[in-house]
Amino acid sequence: MYLILCVLALMSGVPSITPTSYSDQSFLRKTLFSSDRYDPLTRPVNDTNESLKVYVSFGYSPSIELDENVQLMSDSYWFRFRWTDHFLKWNPANYSGISKIYVPQSSVWKPRIALYQRLNNPSLTVNEDALASINSSGVVAFEISIHPKTRCLMEISKFPFDVQTCVFFIMDEYLSEGELYFDVEGVQVMDEPESEWIIQSQSATVTTKYGRSIVNFQFTIRRQPSFYVITIIIPLVTTASLNPLVFLIPPASGEKISVAVTTLLSYTVFLNVISGILPETSTSTSIVSVYITTLFVLSGLYTIFCVIIVKIDNTNWFPGICNYFGLRNRRVSHKTDNSVSDKSSSEPANNVSTAVILDRILFVLCSLGSTVLTCWCFASILR
Ligand SMILES: *[C@@H]1O[C@H](CO)[C@@H](O)[C@H](O)[C@H]1NC(C)=O
Ligand SMILES: *[C@@H]1O[C@H](CO)[C@@H](O)[C@H](O)[C@H]1NC(C)=O
Ligand SMILES: *[C@@H]1O[C@H](CO)[C@@H](O)[C@H](O)[C@H]1NC(C)=O
Ligand SMILES: *[C@@H]1O[C@H](CO)[C@@H](O)[C@H](O)[C@H]1NC(C)=O
Repeated sequence: MYLILCVLALMSGVPSITPTSYSDQSFLRKTLFSSDRYDPLTRPVNDTNESLKVYVSFGYSPSIELDENVQLMSDSYWFRFRWTDHFLKWNPANYSGISKIYVPQSSVWKPRIALYQRLNNPSLTVNEDALASINSSGVVAFEISIHPKTRCLMEISKFPFDVQTCVFFIMDEYLSEGELYFDVEGVQVMDEPESEWIIQSQSATVTTKYGRSIVNFQFTIRRQPSFYVITIIIPLVTTASLNPLVFLIPPASGEKISVAVTTLLSYTVFLNVISGILPETSTSTSIVSVYITTLFVLSGLYTIFCVIIVKIDNTNWFPGICNYFGLRNRRVSHKTDNSVSDKSSSEPANNVSTAVILDRILFVLCSLGSTVLTCWCFASILR
């Protein structure tokens, strides 16, 4: 009967379960951890000169969150540590075939792992309640999953096409490299949706630092720019290209200055939005915010020019600096031509033409200027 059941179990693909008795498990535990045989505070090596090798497997989630204002990255990580404790071996044949047991982590020796960004500042001490598994060859393993916030010094000059590098490391809090060293066994990505940030590359490398063996984790993450391109860059470029058009509005229409001032104000909105996104302190300056500030200053100048042009158009006032552009001569020559005729009728006509010429010159110069500026900005952030 038992044989038939076994055959059926094998045929249906269900692995046959080796019968393990409760008393044997309990007995094995008592034998392994009897206080005269095993001490969980002692590093499991016979020769104190021998360094214990700890394998690290590492997993991370691709849904990274980055808090730009405080420059902290948060993500879920999963670590698995594995080492061989020669003092926890047994022969399964003696314990009704038990080949693996689970015990509280406190009952076995284990490395005291902490996650750091800098020394003296363990951002997170890895703990503790999960069970550790032990198999009959003495291989002890435990897993932890954490959701830490790690520092990420941001390089924002190319926002929104920026790439950030975030680093942290894990280390045993007490043991030197001669007592414990790490080996990276594998890295895997957890099955989760991606976020605003795409992981371009990541690495886990074992090095020595401060006399300890450490595992360095480095993430290179790239921002998905489409949201910012649609909500900031395109409206910004549109505003920037509309701005020189204020010089095409006839001074007499009365709208010239109000359009110039409205455009000027719209840049403050962009500056406000950008400063809400980018970190307040950073080693670099965002080219886009430099671009907006430059546009803002230029727009201020345009407004001043518009005021001057409207004033020229409406009064006899004429700024002396226009001499340098040969405009004074034109006006003077007109004036001498008309000096004999009726002054009040000739001067408005003369001033209108000066204002229109100034408008055209400024329109060409400013369109050129803002095109060059826009090209420079995009060449810099896309490079
Ligand atoms: C450990 O190394 C030191 C010096 O390298 C040596 O004097 C000592 O005998 C070694 N201990 C063992 C147990 O091998
Ligand atoms: C440790 O050393 C003792 C004494 O030399 C020996 O009996 C024991 O088998 C060794 N244990 C291991 C795990 O090497
Ligand atoms: C364990 O089993 C082996 C053979 O499988 C036997 O030689 C040994 O004496 C047993 N040890 C104990 C403590 O029962
Ligand atoms: C114990 O685990 C290690 C690592 O996973 C494996 O290589 C070894 O074969 C296992 N031993 C037994 C008896 O299952």
